[in-house]
Amino acid sequence: MFIRKKRLGELPASDITDHHVYLGRRKFLNNTAAIATASLLPLSLVNAKAELPEATYLNLKQSHYSTDEKPTSYESITTYNNYYEFGTGKSDPALRLESIEFPDKSKPWRVSIEGECDKPGEYDYDDLIRPFTLEERIYRFRCVEGWSMVIPWIGFPLADLIKRAQPNSRAKFVEFTTLYDPAIMTRRNVLDWPYTEGLRIDEAMNPLTLLAVGLYGSELPGQNGAPIRLVVPWKYGFKNIKSIVKIRFVEEMPNSAWMKAGPREYGFYSNVNPDVAHPRWSQSKERRLGEFLKRKTEMFNGYAEDVAHLYTGMDLTKHF
Ligand code: MTE
Repeated sequence: MFIRKKRLGELPASDITDHHVYLGRRKFLNNTAAIATASLLPLSLVNAKAELPEATYLNLKQSHYSTDEKPTSYESITTYNNYYEFGTGKSDPALRLESIEFPDKSKPWRVSIEGECDKPGEYDYDDLIRPFTLEERIYRFRCVEGWSMVIPWIGFPLADLIKRAQPNSRAKFVEFTTLYDPAIMTRRNVLDWPYTEGLRIDEAMNPLTLLAVGLYGSELPGQNGAPIRLVVPWKYGFKNIKSIVKIRFVEEMPNSAWMKAGPREYGFYSNVNPDVAHPRWSQSKERRLGEFLKRKTEMFNGYAEDVAHLYTGMDLTKHF
């Protein structure tokens, strides 16, 4: 994002395979092409493919919050990524995670719930998600860089977890932190690690806000933020923090990794807003992966009916 020279809207439509049917197939990633080239090009241009793995989440509850728009191909969702801990090229995370088991299944994935709440705790991933009912939510996803996708997530409302943690009256915001493991996450100089993000507590409680643990019927791939990530579909993609290890209730607005890196470019709210340009490019249109022509970007990414009330009376040009 911040450091890219090439604009992402330039991804040719021809490199995206239409591939949204649920099939049980083995994941296959052919990474024989030069890695140096791969860091500059979408993965599919360097002859890599990702096929749907066997579905592991069956008979999921469907949601009335899901869009009926056509989901983006599994290949695009899992090979065209932003996960800067694993490199800044779109194909870097998928290529890198072909040779590393991430998350490492031999070690427990711990998530701590901290701060201004009556029921803090540290949980193994399985214990964390066990009480919640997983459902499928097919959401639009709009990156600040000007591209978009439609992603069939699997997850549960963040509000369910928050209710169990019982935040107290001082909890005005929620801060999220990604794992930072320098032994495997090799790009150290781009952001102030670990990656952090935040939401206002009412945004976090909104029924659209999801903790995702899977996509396309199976577990989240590492490059998409396994084992658990945030999905806030009316905000730009960078709010959707990956591989969460800490959720903290706080009184003051947290400063996210991107706010520290570019405070004039990346604000706390970062709601999708076609009328507020990024300082270096317009946000009025977007390129949906798999489509050739750009489409108009919608206010709150098309979720205004569910979230506009959260910002009543706020000047969204100032609170960008
Ligand atoms: N979370 C972490 N920890 N590190 C990142 O680099 N990138 C963000 C967000 N979450 C990022 C992250 C950005 S800029 C985007 S657009 C989305 O993840 C991309 O999610 P995807 O790769 O699953 O499409």
